[in-house]
Amino acid sequence: MSNPMAVHNMKSKLQGKDFLRVGDFTKEDLMDFIHLAINLKNKQKMGEPHRYLEGKTLAMIFEKSSTRTRVSFETGMYQLGGTAQFLSSSDMQLGNGETVADTARVLSRYVDAIMIRTFGHEIVEEVADNASIPVINGLTDDAHPCQVLADLMTIYEEKGSFDGLKLAYVGDGNNMSQSLIIGCALMGMDCHVAVPKGYEVKQTMIDQAKQVATQTGAEIIQTHDPKEAVKDADIIYTDVWTSMGFEAEQEVRMKAFSGFQVNEELIKGAKDDFLFMHCLPAKREVEVTSAVLDGENSVVFDQAENRLHAQKAVLVSIV
Ligand code: CP
Ligand code: NVA
Repeated sequence: MSNPMAVHNMKSKLQGKDFLRVGDFTKEDLMDFIHLAINLKNKQKMGEPHRYLEGKTLAMIFEKSSTRTRVSFETGMYQLGGTAQFLSSSDMQLGNGETVADTARVLSRYVDAIMIRTFGHEIVEEVADNASIPVINGLTDDAHPCQVLADLMTIYEEKGSFDGLKLAYVGDGNNMSQSLIIGCALMGMDCHVAVPKGYEVKQTMIDQAKQVATQTGAEIIQTHDPKEAVKDADIIYTDVWTSMGFEAEQEVRMKAFSGFQVNEELIKGAKDDFLFMHCLPAKREVEVTSAVLDGENSVVFDQAENRLHAQKAVLVSIV
């Protein structure tokens, strides 16, 4: 996808659509996003203008902290010729009791798209149901589709294809792993998730991923054994053991996850050219050692950079 017509075609196909879950898209859609993201990345590196969203505004509602999501969306909108507004929910009337539905209706009268990071996934769905403009999920307790799109883009850039790859996710059955298994299933990539007992990926998500995998041939497995998951893996992925909103459980979680650290011993089971991935922010020496995070197989900062390009592709396509 290297010409403006391709951008136009992509836009007309998905314009107006929400970006709430990876599973709302087909493999073809995700590949289109990835190709467009690579195209936009090249344009930005070459200093070529790509102001496809001239005069457009993105409202960004945050109910949780963020570094990458906030800065990449704001910068992305600027590079596309538009603008973004950072809205902390505690400073909005939303924090004073105005309903989610009314907030969505009002913002729809001012801006061209809404990005929201919140707790329950049903809140994002309520915004989408009441907004007349596209809504993007910037992370919920259940899903992190923007991150997974950037991750798939990074894997594609590094490996050239998804065929025959195995991704091992070691850690919590949280928003990241739940979105990753669907992303892997859609792309036809095997996904082995190793979680402590009591911290599994929701069975409904496993069932959905397995259902998708019947079409793509991906193998979706949940285990309690990190070594089994990591064996011959092409990618090892981890995330924090205590996600935002679960801080009260931190002490209990530290004990429950003690055998699940990604360290130099665990990575011995993977292929020599494996990629180490983490959505960041990382808790160094907790879920991953610095030796692995800063090691030669780590692509964590490429993933972080690709948030910018992947989200620009989403914005150009749906807004
Ligand atoms: N990975 C990610 O979403 O990072 P932030 O929490 O910094 O946005
Ligand atoms: N699972 C983490 C991801 C942060 C980007 C959280 O929800 O806090």
